[in-house]
Amino acid sequence: MQVILQANLKPEYANLLARAREVSENAYNKYSGFFVGVALLSTTGEVYSGTFFENASNPVGVCAERVAIGAAVTAGCRAYEALAVVGGPSTSYSGDPVTPCGLCRQSLSEFATIEGQDVLVFCSNMTLSTIWQTDSRQLLPDAFFRD
Ligand code: THU
Repeated sequence: MQVILQANLKPEYANLLARAREVSENAYNKYSGFFVGVALLSTTGEVYSGTFFENASNPVGVCAERVAIGAAVTAGCRAYEALAVVGGPSTSYSGDPVTPCGLCRQSLSEFATIEGQDVLVFCSNMTLSTIWQTDSRQLLPDAFFRD
């Protein structure tokens, strides 16, 4: 992943990270106390967001990335330019950025593949003090796909 300075971010990507940070505090994190927020920018400029929600039965929980993708798909949008994920164990966390889990990488790759366009991914901590830039292909090379 490539470290990127906030000052060098295009305004739409800076806004995307800000939106992800904003929704991160809505995470239903009763069991982990963790925070994660995601904002997804469509190729036509709409922004969809999501946060995770846990469950007393652990595997039932759904990550913020797949909640945001679900919101976009529900609105009829499948073509994405960029996704921002921010997170951490507290609202003031300023350590290494949170990166998407394996399930979420597979989920994002599905839409990158059908649209024939890699999705830019920005990962950050809760203070946005460190930002990493990558994309859906780097996150999951040779992703499984069926025609
Ligand atoms: N989580 C996400 O929502 N997205 C990520 O990228 C990493 C992890 C959630 C899942 C789990 O409920 C919590 O963060 C960490 O225990």
